[in-house]
Amino acid sequence: LAKVEVEMNNIPEGKNAIIKWRGKPVFVRHRTQEEIDEANKVEVNSLRDPQKDSDRVKRPEWLVMLGVCTHLGCVPIGEAGDYGGWYCPCHGSHYDISGRIRRGPAPLNLEVPEYDFNDDEGKLII
Ligand code: FES
Repeated sequence: LAKVEVEMNNIPEGKNAIIKWRGKPVFVRHRTQEEIDEANKVEVNSLRDPQKDSDRVKRPEWLVMLGVCTHLGCVPIGEAGDYGGWYCPCHGSHYDISGRIRRGPAPLNLEVPEYDFNDDEGKLII
């Protein structure tokens, strides 16, 4: 299956990148410490799709997920919405800085694909 390589150096802390992978957008965010703390302080049991932030990332500073809203498949907008993450304008789903659904009609968190790090080359392989 086709792999995509992402140069991690090209994504500064606090920024998003959108990569195309198998015809779908993949969101990569280089999170700040503040964002990581924010993601971890959420009460997991209060979530619609309860998932710890640490179960959604391999490294806390890198959040990688499919940019496909789990409601009806629109592409959410980054750095938007009421929870500091993504907002889907189609029907108003708000995702947090871990990509977890917080408000709106989407039933599930944004999906995390398989990926790996190649530290020697400074790349993320999706
Ligand atoms: Fe995203 Fe409906 S497709 S809220």
